[in-house]
Parts: sequence; C-alpha cells; structure tokens
Amino acid sequence: MKSLKIPMLVLAASLSFAATTASAQSHKVIYDADVGVDDAMGLILLARHPEIDLLGVTTMFGNGTIDNTTRNTLYLQDVLGFTAPVARGAAKPAYSSAPEPARIHGANALGETEIPAIQSEADPRPAAQMIVDLVRENPGEVTLLMVGRSTNVALALAIEPKLPEMVKQVIIMGGTFGYNYGGKRENANLFSIAEANIGGDARAADEVINAGWPVAILPLDVTLQTIMSKEYLDALPGTDGQFIREITHRTYVNDQGATPVHDSSAIFYLLDPGAYTMTEAKVRVVPDGIAAGQTMMGKPTSSNSTYEPYPSVQVATSVDAARVLDIYSETIANAAE
Ligand code: BDR
Ligand code: CA
Repeated sequence: MKSLKIPMLVLAASLSFAATTASAQSHKVIYDADVGVDDAMGLILLARHPEIDLLGVTTMFGNGTIDNTTRNTLYLQDVLGFTAPVARGAAKPAYSSAPEPARIHGANALGETEIPAIQSEADPRPAAQMIVDLVRENPGEVTLLMVGRSTNVALALAIEPKLPEMVKQVIIMGGTFGYNYGGKRENANLFSIAEANIGGDARAADEVINAGWPVAILPLDVTLQTIMSKEYLDALPGTDGQFIREITHRTYVNDQGATPVHDSSAIFYLLDPGAYTMTEAKVRVVPDGIAAGQTMMGKPTSSNSTYEPYPSVQVATSVDAARVLDIYSETIANAAE
C-alpha cells in the first residue's frame, strides 16, 4: 500500500501543479472595439480576468461616432484602472459610407450613462499604427480581438502587409450564417442580411478574414444564444456588477431585462474554446449591392472561384452558453472579493 500511496501523492501534486500553471497562462490581447455597451462589458472582463494581458485598446466608429466610442473607452479606463494604452481609430469605413450607429447603445453609445470629465488620455498614435507597433513588439504572441468594424485592422494590414505572419490569432465577433435559425438570417441586425460589425465595412471585413492568419469567427448564431437574464445581471456583485447594470438597464435590455452577449463571446472563445462547436470553412463577405455585408460560407475544399484561393477559417456554430456565462460571473465575483 505504501509504495502505491507515494506515487498517488506525487501524481496529485503534479496534477495540481499542472492546473496552477494552466490557469496562470496569460493571453496577450489587443481589443479593437467600438465601445458600446457590450464592448464595455467585454472590456470589464478583460480588465478583471487574471489570464489576460491587455496590451492595447483601439477604438472605431460603429456603435457611436469615433468621438463617442473613444470617450467611452477612456471613461472605462478611468473606471477600471487598466494601464494599456487606448488609441483612437477609424471615424468611417475604409470602403463604404458609415451606416447609422445602432440606437440600442443610446445617444452616447454607453446606454445613456452620465459620463463625468475624463481623466485618461488617448495614445497619440492612430489605432492602426498602434496595432502594428504592439504586434511587432510581441511577434507571434498577440491575439487580436475584433469586436467592431474591420476598418482599423484593414488599415494596419496596409501599413504592415506581413502582419498575418506576426499575429498569433484573430478572433472576430461578427457575421451571421443562419445556424440555429433554420438556415435563415432573420437574425441579421444591420441590414436585411448583414450583421453590424461585418456589414459596417464589408470589404474591409473580407480582406481581414482572408488575410491568411488563424481566424475564428463568433457570429450572431452563437452570441444570440448567449443571454444574460435579468436575474443573472442582478446577481453580478461589487462595483463592476453595479456598473454593468448602470450601462445596460436603459437601452440594452429587452422587455424581460435580458441582454445577448456579443462582444464578450470573442473573449470567452479565447479563454475556453472548448465551449464552442466550430466548423472549418471558407468565408467571403459580399462587398456591395443588395446583399452587402452578407457572410457566405464555402467548404474548405471548395474549388468554386469565389472560395478556392482563400484560406479556411473557423466559425462557431453552437455554444455551451451556461459554461461561458459562468466565466463572466466568476470573473466579476473574484474581482469583487
Ligand atoms: C455587434 O454590433 C454591435 O452593436 C455590438 O457591439 C457587437 O459588436 C453585434 O452585431
Ligand atoms: Ca462592438
């Protein structure tokens, strides 16, 4: 028995060591966002999660004007105290005219929350330049979390065409493919066929998705399955919980007080990819016309000229919503302790 006991203790010790080292893993990320209520919720998760090393935050038009979204991001920096630089990005799409900002985020794009005078200051660099600089400083290590239009990253690719060789992975919240909706896209939220982030600069999105780097896409098909109920929101503890209720309750919840979790889904995928079912596919974005912004999916082996020269990417088709929602609530609870 004795000779059995020692190896078991050793095994237990080594397992707990493995667990400790795995949970101490840190992900270097750049958050490219149009802050926005759900973008702000994602930023709270990034600022509070122990495995995240936030290198920079880049802003863009989208949920509001570039002035609104940049001010909101700097306000979040005041509130959360993160030290990563914030750089102001694109004021309009690279290739088309900007659609109206989504009204659901309120006139100030932060759910009509009263915003006091801002203490934090933006980095002097334009967002695209800061993305290039941070990636060059951390070659092979950076995850780009894209939760707004693709404009900043398309501009970064124009500055540094070798960016895809230097970035670890790109995680995009965007698009809609008709999974979970009987193959239909009635869940599109920009035009009849397009999701806001992709449709808001469709050609830029097509460029970024197909730039030849590891891409994972979290479309509406999974983010609309990930719902924070009123009870869930009410139970989020501490000042973060209070802040989240403050920014969501006026414009960003439905009649039942619930809200879908779009932008944090990109972070959930980074932290726990196993919570998602992914399919490998080629993805193109319709650049203009009546289907502008539609995300199209082809087989990885497709020889059709629409898809054939393009790389395969990963697209989420379903999610264990309870599992990823636990990541959020546990992170907020741990930070509140
Ligand atoms: C996306 O659009 C924006 O309104 C949200 O912030 C999210 O990034 C969802 O379609
Ligand atoms: Ca967003």
